[in-house]
Amino acid sequence: SNTILTDGFGRKHNYLRISLLEKCNLRCTYCMPADGIALSPKASLMTAEEIFAIAQTFVKNGVDKIRLTGGEPLLRKDFPEIVSKLSELEISLSITTNGILIDRHIETLKQFKVKKINLSLDTLISSKFHSITLRNQFEKVIDNLHLLLNHDFDVKVNVVLIKGFNDNEIVDFIKLTQFLPISVRFIEFMPFAGNEWDRSKMVSQKEILDLVETQFPLEVIQKLENEKNFTSRNYKIKDFQGNFGIISSITNPFCDSCNRIRLTANGKIKNCLFSNSETDLLTAFRNGESITDLISNSIQNKKKVRAGMSTVNEINDPTLHFDNRSMIAIGG
Ligand code: GTP
Ligand code: 5AD
Ligand code: SF4
Repeated sequence: SNTILTDGFGRKHNYLRISLLEKCNLRCTYCMPADGIALSPKASLMTAEEIFAIAQTFVKNGVDKIRLTGGEPLLRKDFPEIVSKLSELEISLSITTNGILIDRHIETLKQFKVKKINLSLDTLISSKFHSITLRNQFEKVIDNLHLLLNHDFDVKVNVVLIKGFNDNEIVDFIKLTQFLPISVRFIEFMPFAGNEWDRSKMVSQKEILDLVETQFPLEVIQKLENEKNFTSRNYKIKDFQGNFGIISSITNPFCDSCNRIRLTANGKIKNCLFSNSETDLLTAFRNGESITDLISNSIQNKKKVRAGMSTVNEINDPTLHFDNRSMIAIGG
């Protein structure tokens, strides 16, 4: 059954993204505000048992895909326990990670069949990696990318494009897919609290495609079929092993087929990435109350497009999203 997870526009929410914590071992400027965020007190974060119990309620109501996010999900000390419990559910389980701790957790990921790994990597140049993440971990991430591929994981590489910073690496990232069986996804920079978003820093889907068309002969650029509930529109260069895609949340949203609901590390539902009205499940759960009505109400309140910001002009108006969380506390 999927009824409490079906919204007013007929969208079925079968994909739950769970943020495990608000901390990260990198400091990417587009994600984490320079002066940090006010962390939730530890006692108000979901425990492994609570994550499992709440996830189970979602699964009973039709969720069949769970992605663990953060902050950095692999920083959770009880990550193996969380994954082990969730693997009892009939779901496809995946994570989005910065890759630094992959080598430490690779056996857990293999054991519990977490095969799909989305890895954040915004540049192929070590010094630029430091300037965006404020940490020297480039070589570690690259080593772990290869480790994942050697162990047959399905890897997507997430690249948030920022004008003047890494837009000159688009072709290099695509060339990386010649010999690596990865999906590179170029992501339009999105506004969140404290990330100094500005329309002029964003590289649009159109700009990316125009560039690709000047850099590769038209006959080798192949458009792939959209996946069901896609975030990225995908392409491939003929005979390359991997492919690439564009996640155009700003200029070409894909909300019509949205199947995603989010649970923050402190147990609140966000019915949209851009929604700042949250529903507290954890408090109700701790009080022994039923959470299904809360879930249902949140889904019913979901807006058609980007939490109500249906035009790019509305996104440009910071007063409309100034009280949303920072990305580090949403998990993408
Ligand atoms: P797959 O399950 O592999 O399709 O991953 P995904 O694209 O759903 O998730 P991932 O964590 O890799 O996120 C990649 C980018 O897509 C990030 O910048 C996210 O913020 C963005 N993203 C993920 N889900 C949504 C969504 O529901 N809406 C919008 N607008 N962007 C999303
Ligand atoms: N805009 C777009 N994508 C972002 N991410 C983090 N912050 C932003 C932003 N402001 C991406 C990360 C990660 C994914 C979960 O979200 O690159 O891969
Ligand atoms: Fe879904 Fe909101 Fe993302 Fe649109 S912006 S796809 S409604 S989460």
